[in-house]
Amino acid sequence: MKEKIALLKEKIQSVRIKTPEDAEKFRVAFLGAKGELKALYQELKTVPDGDKKTIGQEINALKKMAEDVLNQIDIEEVKTDKKHSNDLSRPTYENQSGTLHPLTLVKSEIVSIFEKIGFSISEGPEIEDDWHNFSALNFPADHPARDMQDTFFIDCPNPELSLRTHTSSVQVRVMENQKPPIRTISPGRVYRNEAISARAHCFFHQIEGLYIDKNVKFSDLKQTLAYFAKAVFGDKAKIRLRSSYFPFTEPSAEVDVSCSLCESKGCSVCKNSGWLEIMGCGMVDPNVLSACGIDPTEYSGFAFGMGLERIAQLKYRVSDLRLYSENDRRFLQQFQY
Ligand code: PHE
Repeated sequence: MKEKIALLKEKIQSVRIKTPEDAEKFRVAFLGAKGELKALYQELKTVPDGDKKTIGQEINALKKMAEDVLNQIDIEEVKTDKKHSNDLSRPTYENQSGTLHPLTLVKSEIVSIFEKIGFSISEGPEIEDDWHNFSALNFPADHPARDMQDTFFIDCPNPELSLRTHTSSVQVRVMENQKPPIRTISPGRVYRNEAISARAHCFFHQIEGLYIDKNVKFSDLKQTLAYFAKAVFGDKAKIRLRSSYFPFTEPSAEVDVSCSLCESKGCSVCKNSGWLEIMGCGMVDPNVLSACGIDPTEYSGFAFGMGLERIAQLKYRVSDLRLYSENDRRFLQQFQY
C-alpha cells in the first residue's frame, strides 16, 4: 500500500498541465469517481485496523496535493495561446492590496491623539486575576457590582481567573509598577458575557486612559476630553458630562459628544437628543490609589474609558457591531487608508 501511495505521488508530481484539456484529464485520472485516488480509498478498507489511521492520512494528504495542483493552475493563462501570452502590452491582473481594519484605524488615530499630549501606551494580559480586574479597582468582595460587567470566569485551575472585562486592569498594573506622574492609555480587547446582536458582542475593544500627578483636578479631565472630542469628531464637537457611578472613580461621569451627523439638530443615531454617549470617566477613587501603592494624600488622578467599536460606529456609520468580526471583504475593503 505504501509503495502504491509513493508511486502515485511521483505520478502526480510529474504531470505538466498546459491546456484546459490537460487539467480535465488530470482531474479524471486522479480525482474522478473512477480515478486512482478513489481506488486507493477502496483498498484502504482491506488494510489492518492498526494501520488504517496512518495510511488514511497519507491518502488524504495525496488527495490534497492533487487538488492543490488543480487549484493552482491559472486557467486563463492556460487558455491563452502562445502568441497572446507574449503580448507585453496586455493589462496585468488587478493588484489587490490589503486594508487596515476599521478598529485598527480608529485605535491608531486615538493613540496618536493622546501621544501628542504625552500619554504612553501600556498593555496587559487578557486573562486576568480578581485583584487586577476587580479588587484593586474598589469592587467590594462578593458584591453584585462584579456582575455589572457580565464576567466570563475561567473555572480551572484557578477560580479567581477571568477574561478581563475592561482594560482598567492594565492601569492597576501600571500604578503598581510606576511612580507618578503617570500618563498612559491602554488599548486592548475585553470580554463580557452578552448575547451577540447588532448592538452588543461578547468581546469588544477599549482604550482607557489614566493620568496621575500632584493636583490633578476634574477640570483637567474635562479639558483633556474636550481636546480628544475635537480631534476625533472635528472642531465643532462639544462634550457634556452626566454624573454616573463606577466603583473605581469618584465622582464619576458619562461623557456625551455633540452629534456630528446632524450637527445636534436631532437624528436617528442620536435619537433626536443631539448627543451621543461615548465613554465613562471620573477622578480615580483614593481607595484605588492606596490599593496600588500610591499615596492619595499626595496624588490625585483621572481615568476614562471608551469602546473602540462605538467610536468607529460614529465615525464610519457602522450600523451593526457584528460586521467588525465577520471578515466580510465587502465591508473591510471600504476602509482604504
Ligand atoms: N472601565 C469602565 C468600563 O469598562 C470605563 C471607565 C474607565 C469608566 C475609567 C470610568 C473611568 O466601562
